[in-house]
Amino acid sequence: MTMSDGVSRRTVLKTGAAATAAGSIGVHISAARTATPPAMDGASPVVLRINGERYQLDLDPRTSLLDALREHLDLTGTKKGCDHGQCGACTVLIDGRRVLACLTLAVQADGRPVTTIEGLRGPDGRLHPMQQAFIDHDALQCGYCTPGQILSAVACLSEGHAGSVDEIREYMSGNLCRCAAYDGITAAIAAVAGLPAPGPEA
Ligand code: FES
Ligand code: FES
Repeated sequence: MTMSDGVSRRTVLKTGAAATAAGSIGVHISAARTATPPAMDGASPVVLRINGERYQLDLDPRTSLLDALREHLDLTGTKKGCDHGQCGACTVLIDGRRVLACLTLAVQADGRPVTTIEGLRGPDGRLHPMQQAFIDHDALQCGYCTPGQILSAVACLSEGHAGSVDEIREYMSGNLCRCAAYDGITAAIAAVAGLPAPGPEA
């Protein structure tokens, strides 16, 4: 969807959106660290390997991966939308496959490589091609769904489910966007997949 309510508002939104796509990705924790939440009865030791960093935590075994990321590790690029597995805002990759972090217990990720939006850009600081494509194709407005959309889009390609615009739409259907930036999102993914630019969704 294209905004049409003035240059200044658009500039502000675009700046904020780019910050979501790029800035939040810029959260960087330079060294492995041990988070020390308050001691609790029945806490389970968990080792999370996130974006190449190793974190050792003692967590209530009911803690979701989403809450471990956001509340215990300050990795707030992963968003909490519904917290019920219905919106895709919390999408991260485990072992390169997309999962909903709100429906995944942190202990289920124990020892497995997790990729969040903060870890997607290259070691040289350059944005991942999908991040850049989202900016280039105006694939976000408020940006809240964007981290999950981008992780899901990256997986959509690696799964081999970006062979056509229809296929992209089907395999991205679990990621909702309240701003309805779907045309831009599809265009961004199609561009990275090397497909012709799609028309507006019917
Ligand atoms: S916050 Fe996880 S699917 Fe909505
Ligand atoms: S850009 Fe606002 S929810 Fe998707």
